[in-house]
Amino acid sequence: MSADKEGFRLELAPLHGVTGRVFRRAYLAAFPGFDSAMAPFILSVRVDRLKDTHFKDLCPPEEGGITLVPQILGNDAAGFLATAKVLADSGYPEVNWNLGCPYPMVADKGRGSGLLPFPDRITRFLDEVCPRLGPRLSVKLRLGRREAGEILALMPALNAYPLSRIILHARLGIQMYKGRVDLEGFGRAAALCTHRLSYNGDIKDSGGFEARRTRFPEVQDWMIGRGALEDPFLPARLKGLALPPEPLEAIRAFHAELYRGYRAILFGPAHVLDKMKEVWTYLGRNIQGASRDLEALPRAKTLETYEATVERILSKGQWQEPRPEELSHK
Ligand SMILES: Cc1cc2nc3c(=O)[nH]c(=O)nc-3n(C[C@H](O)[C@H](O)[C@H](O)COP(=O)(O)O)c2cc1C
Repeated sequence: MSADKEGFRLELAPLHGVTGRVFRRAYLAAFPGFDSAMAPFILSVRVDRLKDTHFKDLCPPEEGGITLVPQILGNDAAGFLATAKVLADSGYPEVNWNLGCPYPMVADKGRGSGLLPFPDRITRFLDEVCPRLGPRLSVKLRLGRREAGEILALMPALNAYPLSRIILHARLGIQMYKGRVDLEGFGRAAALCTHRLSYNGDIKDSGGFEARRTRFPEVQDWMIGRGALEDPFLPARLKGLALPPEPLEAIRAFHAELYRGYRAILFGPAHVLDKMKEVWTYLGRNIQGASRDLEALPRAKTLETYEATVERILSKGQWQEPRPEELSHK
């Protein structure tokens, strides 16, 4: 990944259950600024259990869009290699290993962030995988599962492997997605890292982004998740691209495409409503003047009620650029 003329690259973070194929297609067509996207994880599967449906979010690869990086969650090298081979055969030049998933049912089984306290298990996995893997391998991880010292033990070990890059979410597994990001912990890990390094965590506005860029001048790649779902104009604003004169009209067009996409592939209104309501938990945050309808939206039980509520939100509401965050200097 080379940096572009602004000197940095932006990547859409993976959000399992949210940023799947239908979402990516609608979002990336409507809102410019991202250079690449990482797909939510798929599980690694043994070769005898591989089915086409396992890859439905990724294969065939998306056309005409920006670079998409698939991600695999698992701790079994043979399964990882088999899963990565299917992705490589579909044309993906890079696969990402998920070492950040915080959910106890994943982490307690030694997957995702559950591996972070055990550098020896990670190096055993990489010893098996790296020599046999076709595509490039990147790793997305956190500062640790329980404490930020874990990354300090792990980073020198990771430096010894031919990873294409590391994406570091500046939180611990036990924080889940809450609490402050630990910028000092990120800085300590960055100082040890000889790989290309991406920053991830709580980029929500231009001020917070510029403060992180100033603090970590060696970082050229920035991954953004929730901030870009809450404010879909954020990537364009960070890149200095033109913003739409009527932000809610751009959101209306995106919403129409997303809704159409989900109705085309999901079976039954309940599934469509679940998906759309989850997107609104992010998208609704910066819309003022429609709080009653935004509160009513999760209670919509039919598509008709949902559509009428969304119409009121989009016609009565006003788009409000997020207020600058108070940056943690912890
Ligand atoms: C609902 C949800 C699902 C997520 N799914 C994934 C995933 O599949 N793979 C992954 O590496 N990270 C996943 N994450 C973590 C995000 O990619 C990202 O690291 C995290 O949200 C911090 O970045 P942000 O503050 O910019 O959102 C998920 C986060 C959320 C909130």
